[in-house]
Amino acid sequence: MGRLDGKVALITGTGGGQGRVAALRFASEGARVYGCDINGAAHEETCQLVRDAGFAMSGGRGSVDLGDPEQARAWVEAGVAEFGRLDILYNNASACRFGGVAELSIEDWHFTIRNELDLMFFTTKYAWNHLAVQGGVVINISSVAAWGGSQIAGISAHAAAKGAVVSFTRQLAVEGVKHKIRAVSISPGFIATPGTTEFLKNPDIRKALLDGVLMERPGESHEVVSTALFVASDEASFITGTDIVVDGGLLAT
Ligand SMILES: NC(=O)c1ccc[n+]([C@@H]2O[C@H](COP(=O)([O-])OP(=O)(O)OC[C@H]3O[C@@H](n4cnc5c(N)ncnc54)[C@H](O)[C@@H]3O)[C@@H](O)[C@H]2O)c1
Repeated sequence: MGRLDGKVALITGTGGGQGRVAALRFASEGARVYGCDINGAAHEETCQLVRDAGFAMSGGRGSVDLGDPEQARAWVEAGVAEFGRLDILYNNASACRFGGVAELSIEDWHFTIRNELDLMFFTTKYAWNHLAVQGGVVINISSVAAWGGSQIAGISAHAAAKGAVVSFTRQLAVEGVKHKIRAVSISPGFIATPGTTEFLKNPDIRKALLDGVLMERPGESHEVVSTALFVASDEASFITGTDIVVDGGLLAT
């Protein structure tokens, strides 16, 4: 018996580190998973991995840019049409650009807000009435950048977007309660993924990235995904409108 048996989950960014792990884990817990990524080839690889493991995953073919509202709408509608209902929207996809506030270009600012925040509004807006049919949950991936600045990278745009993810989620919880829709954000600390392992190979960069992390190690994708799985499941039936930090103790100091 899976913890998500009978549920349909839309997961964004399934070509990436955490999104791939999430697709595999949610499917292995009984969910029918519909994914997408702007990197269509990576998303299709994930679909194959999930199917090879004997589970259900779809998401169409090719690249989906969720920063384009029309593509976000079409992806949500196609997912609901394929599986006939929607229970879980897992907004995981994001892309950002860094730079000191004086140097960060206007274009980089807009790129970050578009690909970390706008896309989450678009998928949620178009998923909302489908979730409201029987109730469900929206899981939005934020970051510890929502809660504290960085001494090693210029994260003003990223921090603004991820902070907005937390407050956006809180409002979803307020609006969602009458539809039995819960909304929860998750704020990971530094997580080792295929995209970040290169940085971790350099001892100086590793030390700087892990500065202040009580557990003195990066998190693993499955540690964020396990939290999302709990939030998505009926075990979290009294949890809404909050943010869960998964950071090895970084924010404790
Ligand atoms: N890795 C970390 O250290 C870390 C820390 C805190 C928060 N997070 C958050 O966790 C989530 C997952 O990140 P990850 O570590 O797996 O990174 P990742 O880059 O491996 O995955 C993100 C995926 O989102 C996709 N994507 C980006 N823009 C998109 C768009 N417009 N439309 C569709 N897909 C798009 C990317 O192609 C990528 O596959 C993100 O929201 C990220 O901000 C990551």
